[in-house]
Amino acid sequence: MDSQSTLYIGTIIHSLALGKLEVLEKGAIVVGTNGVIEKVVEAAQVATLKKSSSINVVDLGHRLIIPGFVDGHVHAPQYSFVGTGMELPLLDWLNKYTFPSEAKFKDPVYARSQYRTAVARFLTNGTTTASYFATIHLESTKILADIVHEVGQRGIIGKVNMDRNSPDFLVETTSQSIKDTKEFVAHVLGKRDPLVQPVITPRFVPSTSSKLMTSLGEISASHDPKIRVQSHLSENKNEIKWVGEMHPECGSYADVYNQHGLLHERSYMAHCIWCSYGERELLRDKGVGIIHCPNSNFSLSSGALNVRRMLDEGLKVGLGSDVAGGFSPSMLDALRQSITASKMVSIGQGSDGDDLESPTAGIGSIKQYEALSYAEAFHLATVGGAECLSLGDTVGNFLPGKDFDALIIDPKVEGSPVDVFEGDSSLDIFQRFLFLGDDRNIEQVFVAGKNRKTQKLRDMLAASL
Ligand code: GUN
Ligand code: FE
Repeated sequence: MDSQSTLYIGTIIHSLALGKLEVLEKGAIVVGTNGVIEKVVEAAQVATLKKSSSINVVDLGHRLIIPGFVDGHVHAPQYSFVGTGMELPLLDWLNKYTFPSEAKFKDPVYARSQYRTAVARFLTNGTTTASYFATIHLESTKILADIVHEVGQRGIIGKVNMDRNSPDFLVETTSQSIKDTKEFVAHVLGKRDPLVQPVITPRFVPSTSSKLMTSLGEISASHDPKIRVQSHLSENKNEIKWVGEMHPECGSYADVYNQHGLLHERSYMAHCIWCSYGERELLRDKGVGIIHCPNSNFSLSSGALNVRRMLDEGLKVGLGSDVAGGFSPSMLDALRQSITASKMVSIGQGSDGDDLESPTAGIGSIKQYEALSYAEAFHLATVGGAECLSLGDTVGNFLPGKDFDALIIDPKVEGSPVDVFEGDSSLDIFQRFLFLGDDRNIEQVFVAGKNRKTQKLRDMLAASL
C-alpha cells in the first residue's frame, strides 16, 4: 500500500463470473495513486484500515460502488442523429440517414463540436470504456481520439475504412484508406496514453474491397500486440445475401473476414445474429469477441440474437449500444434490452431455426434457451465487454491489479427514478438501479482512479444546448 492510497467505503457489487456477483456490504476498495486496485476488503477489515494514518478515506455511505460499463460497439458520429430515423432496415437506413450524416465529419470544426457532445454523453452515462467507430476522415478521427483523451475516458478508436459500394460523398481510394489508417494508428500510439488505443475498423464487408481488407489484416498483424480489429458481421439477412454474392469464394460471411486475416484473438464483431454453427465455431476458435447490440437489433428490425447459445458454446460476449442504430447512449439500456432479447428467444421468437443449430442439438428438436438473468446481463456489460476488447486483465471488475474504473451509484439522489423501500437488500436496490436507474444516479465515473464526471464534463454537455 503506498502512502497516498485511497480507501473507498461503500456497498461493492461486481461480477466474478457469468451470473456470479460478489456483494460486500460496507466493504472497501483500496486504490493506489496510480489508479490501480490494491485490494478489496470486507466490512470487518475496514475499521482497521481506516486507522492507518497514511490512507485517504472516502466514505460513500449508502452508495453502491460498481464497475464502469464497457460499450463494445458505438458510432460516435452517429450520435448526431440519435433517436431519429428509426423506421428503416439496415441497408436503407445506411443510405438514407447514416452516410449523409457521417459525410459531414469531413469538416473538422463540425466534428469537434459533435464529438464533444457525444463523448460527454457516453461518459456521463457510465461508459468508462468505449470502442468507437469514427468515420473515414483522418483529421476528424484524430479529433475524436483527442477528445476521448481530454475527458479521460478509456477509448478504443477506429478510423472507418470504405472503398467500395459507398456513395461518392463518403468513399476513399484503397491506397488513401491504407495510408490514413497507418497514420491514424501511429498518431494514437504516439500519444502514449494507455487509455486511448487504435482499432482497425473496416465498416463491413460490402464497404471494403478484398485488397483493402488484406492490407488492414496486415497492418493489424504488423504490431505486437496486434492492433485490435472491429467490424459488423451477420446483422441483416439482405446484407448477408449481398456478401454471399460478392464473395462466392468464401464459405461464409465470417470466412470472408477470416480469409483476409481479420479474425484473431484481438478482433470483435458486432451483431452476429445470423451466424451459422460453423461460423460460430470459427469465431470461437479464433478467439473473436461477439458484441451483442440488442437495441439496434430491434430498432433496425435485424433480429434477436440467441445470446445463450453463444455463451453455451464458449464464445466471448459483450454488449454494445450501437448508437445510432440503437437509440440509447446508455449501457443500462443495452443491459435491459439484452434481457428482453433473450426472453424473446426463450419463448421461441428469436434468431432460431434448425439451420442455426449445432449438429448435436438434433435436427427438428426444439431446444429451450434460458433467458439472461440480471446478474448475467451485468456481467456482459462489464467483464464480458472487457474480455472481448482484450481488456480483461485491466477492467471489468474489482480484482486487485486492475484499474479502478468504477461508478458511484446514489439510489437516493434528488429526483432519483429509483425508489428505495424499507427492508430492501443491497441486491434489491442494485436491481432497481439496473432496470429503472439512469445517469442521475451515476454520481461519479472513475476511470483509472480519477473521477471524470466533473463540472467540465457537465459544461461540455451544456454547451450543446
Ligand atoms: N453495418 C455497416 N455499417 C453499419 C452501421 O453504421 N451501423 C450498423 N448497425 N450496422 C452497420
Ligand atoms: Fe454498428
